[in-house]
Amino acid sequence: YVIGVDLGTSAVKVLLVNQNGEVVKEASAEYPVMHEKSGYSEQHPEDWVKGTFQALQAVTSHLKEGEKVEGISFAGQMHGLVMVDESGEVIRPAILWNDTRTTAECQEIVETVGQKRLLHLTKNPALEGFTLPKIIWVKKHEPQNWERLHQFMLPKDYVRYRMTGKMAMDLSDAAGTLLLDVEHGVWSKEMLDAFTIEETQCPQLLKSVDEAGEIMPEVARETGLQPDTKVFAGGADNACGAIGSGVLKEGMSMCSIGTSGVILSYENRGNLDFNGKVHYFNHGVPNAYYTMGVTLAAGDSLAWYKKNFGGELSFDELIKEAALTPPGAEGLLFTPYISGERTPHADAYIRGSFTGMDQRHTRGHFTRAVIEGVTFSLNESLTIFRENGKKIDRIVSIGGGAKSDFWLQLQADIFNAEVVKLNSEQGPGMGAAMLASVGSGWFGSLEQCSAVFLKEERTYKPQNNEYYKSLFSIYQQVYNQTKQLSRL
Ligand code: XUL
Repeated sequence: YVIGVDLGTSAVKVLLVNQNGEVVKEASAEYPVMHEKSGYSEQHPEDWVKGTFQALQAVTSHLKEGEKVEGISFAGQMHGLVMVDESGEVIRPAILWNDTRTTAECQEIVETVGQKRLLHLTKNPALEGFTLPKIIWVKKHEPQNWERLHQFMLPKDYVRYRMTGKMAMDLSDAAGTLLLDVEHGVWSKEMLDAFTIEETQCPQLLKSVDEAGEIMPEVARETGLQPDTKVFAGGADNACGAIGSGVLKEGMSMCSIGTSGVILSYENRGNLDFNGKVHYFNHGVPNAYYTMGVTLAAGDSLAWYKKNFGGELSFDELIKEAALTPPGAEGLLFTPYISGERTPHADAYIRGSFTGMDQRHTRGHFTRAVIEGVTFSLNESLTIFRENGKKIDRIVSIGGGAKSDFWLQLQADIFNAEVVKLNSEQGPGMGAAMLASVGSGWFGSLEQCSAVFLKEERTYKPQNNEYYKSLFSIYQQVYNQTKQLSRL
């Protein structure tokens, strides 16, 4: 067996996978996100470790005498700043990818380096979610914490560190720090110097398939893993999601709807930047890259809506009600900016909206509007890709959004592309398991692995695009009309 760990924002999921790519056992553990102030989003790294160890124990207890886990790897929520001191102690709670407190620090980055140079060096614009603005924020607001910093890490790197005792970071995750020379896959000396960060404070860089240490004996006891289980570096959740969707060559694209939502497309060149309109990161596939647009609150919008307005209904029941209402929810429109937005509006202050409420409207209409609004937001990223010359007519869909036929068909309709559902919608966890299986020598390459592990289950063809096209152009106007509100 191999294990794929997906360290998400709301929970960690652990998959035990056999040589045919079948998930034979899965376990998960949830943990809270703390929003101490509007725009703040933090977690305790210890919660990740506890949750991961618990879930690992739950899947390994399924193993029979003589069965073993040969390799384990990780997919992780990106960008989160974890700071450890010389003894490896965590200095402060992790500041997460959807924390938007750092608008001033982003301006400072652009003023210091210059927008053109920043794009040249890192291939990305300065966005609140990325790691460097968080580092600068801590330096400025918590100098006593900065003083103690030995190394910074990203979330899954910290969990891996706690399993192996070795600090490292892989390229696909390092790409989201704004400190990596993305094209060449090394720390950017110029970026580090500009913000007085020592290279020794940055972990050693690895490729996603590289071995990253051995399980420490006490961790083996606690998790039920063997001490000789090989640990592989793993990657950013979106890079692993792309691997787990078979997005392994030029021309392939993915839509992932988890807490955040992502449209991602494979790139084999390291020197594009789409003028900073979308993210441009290293893939988990060696020497490859991807373009990506991000909706900050995708599944998060639906989870927020369910918590406040869904009563006792499950997600499935809510979606069933939504499916009974007509396309466009009879004039009800939602924008998913409940915690600001990234693509296409890099705007930490914008907030969401429902418009067009009518006496006839029911809860089903509202749920439908949320799901349509999230999908419109993702379509904005797709529109940027297409405007920049990418031809996208087929998209593999993963995550919570790929669990429902209704949402999959809606994606096909709004994206005006064929949407493919695989045998497993577990993108990042499956991608991590694929990295572990290639690392363990089961396959010579990720492509060979995907031929065995991934099967297409169903294709959804666009049906109602003309109607959604006109609705989308109205959706696109809401941002400017509601911008004022968020500045009051
Ligand atoms: C990507 C991003 C999110 C997180 C979610 O830039 O911030 O998709 O990776 O875990």
